[in-house]
Amino acid sequence: MIIKSNKIIPASEITDPLIFKNRRQIIKAMAGSLLIGSGISSVFANDKIDWIKLPKANVLTNSLPVTPAEIVKNYTNYYEFTFNKTDTTSLAQNLRTDPWSVEISGEVETPGVYYLEDILSHQSLQEYIYRFRCVEAWSMVVPWIGFPLSALLKTVKPLSSARFVQFTSIYSPQVMPNQRDNAMLDWPYQEGLRIDEAMHPLTILAVGMYGETMPKQNGAPLRLVVPWKYGFKSIKAIVKIELLKKPPVTTWNKFAPNDYGFYSNVNPTVAHPRWSQNSERQLGGSFFTPRRQTELFNGYAHQVASLYNDMDLRHFF
Ligand code: MTE
Repeated sequence: MIIKSNKIIPASEITDPLIFKNRRQIIKAMAGSLLIGSGISSVFANDKIDWIKLPKANVLTNSLPVTPAEIVKNYTNYYEFTFNKTDTTSLAQNLRTDPWSVEISGEVETPGVYYLEDILSHQSLQEYIYRFRCVEAWSMVVPWIGFPLSALLKTVKPLSSARFVQFTSIYSPQVMPNQRDNAMLDWPYQEGLRIDEAMHPLTILAVGMYGETMPKQNGAPLRLVVPWKYGFKSIKAIVKIELLKKPPVTTWNKFAPNDYGFYSNVNPTVAHPRWSQNSERQLGGSFFTPRRQTELFNGYAHQVASLYNDMDLRHFF
């Protein structure tokens, strides 16, 4: 554990945002984790760290190979910028991710606007190698670097009335062409979880991957990763986290409620109205790589199925 003070700075006490440098802080936090893992003091070049030495979460993927970083970095869904998966890499570089703050509000004892720097100073980073299954039926295996969402939520003390969590991405029409043009979705992008899903140890907030700070196109500086749900739940560039009494509005569910449910747990037996979810194309494979059989809860049933004991899996998508 990184032991730091528990001081969190509320919006009212914030001074000059320009003195904070999130990127540096993420590297510093990674360095802290590295030091815990190795006992060695070290300096990092080019934002790269020796990720092998990062403490690893014991929730590794089912021994599938990690997808090559270049593929994960250059085949992204970030609809604020473009509907094209490859142009995002260059377009997303226009987003300013430093300084960055996150508003945490709603049913919590200590609402406020928190600098990412302060958030990270209370967290120890770990590597989580997770399988990631997109609703479009492709999949990958990614070594994320992050911390449990529950650890952040605990710092703001959720009230017993908090039943759901809503996440909101940045709204920046100056640099996000599809926001500027009001294209397709209602912006900003929003997602949500039930509070028990949010508090589950597999649910993380990620600030990096492949031993580096999060690339902008993959959701820098802070994104959600919920490995047993379809990828669209893993919202990027989070600026607001609100704890709610009632189920939140979520972008894709609002856009097409029959296609994209609130839960969206990976389930090979429930087809999307236009395609089967029974199997998946693994990114990084060759033309000859066979499609992989999709697993219930993306292979994490052992850890998460009990969250849904009282629900009929066929009826909740
Ligand atoms: N978050 C925001 N803000 N905007 C998006 O368009 N796309 C979602 C999710 N998070 C999206 C988002 C979808 S559809 C997927 S599959 C994943 O991000 C993709 O993550 P990746 O691009 O890092 O692979």
